[in-house]
Amino acid sequence: MDLWQDFQTNQGKVIRKWEHYFPVYERHFGPWRGRSLTFLEVGVAHGGSLAMWRRFFGPLATVVGVDIDPKCRAHEENGVFVRIGDQSDPKFLESLVEEFGVPDVVLDDGSHQMAHVHATFDAFYPRMGKNGVYMVEDLHTAYWPDFGGGLKEPNSFIERAKSLVDQLNADHARGALAPDAFTRETLSISFYDSMVVFEKGRVPRKTAPEIGALPGKKPAIRQM
Ligand SMILES: C[S@@+](CC[C@H](N)C(=O)[O-])C[C@H]1O[C@@H](n2cnc3c(N)ncnc32)[C@H](O)[C@@H]1O
Repeated sequence: MDLWQDFQTNQGKVIRKWEHYFPVYERHFGPWRGRSLTFLEVGVAHGGSLAMWRRFFGPLATVVGVDIDPKCRAHEENGVFVRIGDQSDPKFLESLVEEFGVPDVVLDDGSHQMAHVHATFDAFYPRMGKNGVYMVEDLHTAYWPDFGGGLKEPNSFIERAKSLVDQLNADHARGALAPDAFTRETLSISFYDSMVVFEKGRVPRKTAPEIGALPGKKPAIRQM
């Protein structure tokens, strides 16, 4: 069953997700299905999404839900762990890494306050392994002042993600930007309505050879 069907036919705990997120989940989380992974979702609420993720990723998945509301403890079940704390508290986030290791896949569906989204990203993303996926949803709040956002507001997570596009391309900025760990370890940044997805990955070498035969010449590989 695909995730959209699972959501549509859910008879269990309540899940609240925008419909247009489902193809994005399938695209970026799909490669992790059936694998041994640690998936961490910030924002448990009624527990329905954690149960859905467990069904989606399968029996080898460790699903960790994080919420500030102690009532969410009730949503622990087989293969699903819930920890109570504030997603903006670095010590709490560190305790999650100590207990479960650095997650392979993160979905931030927590408070959607810009300061909190930054804090959680800072705690996990730089440490995530190659092929890790970090997704932030409900980023319409990045445009809302009551969530610390606003159009072109420097502290909005969307503005940060936009400038990280430059950091991703730092190798080509002719010295204007110094490549850093983000440049070396990030494969892609994807923008969708209200969502940003970062995929980790290394490009072992950045070369653009010309391969093939020019008229009247032998086939060759020419480094540009
Ligand atoms: C949008 S709901 C999560 C919905 C759930 N993921 C789903 O798809 O059904 C957001 C949750 O974030 C939690 N939350 C709010 N502020 C938080 C914070 N600072 N740290 C951790 N969780 C927080 C709320 O208690 C609430 O349960």
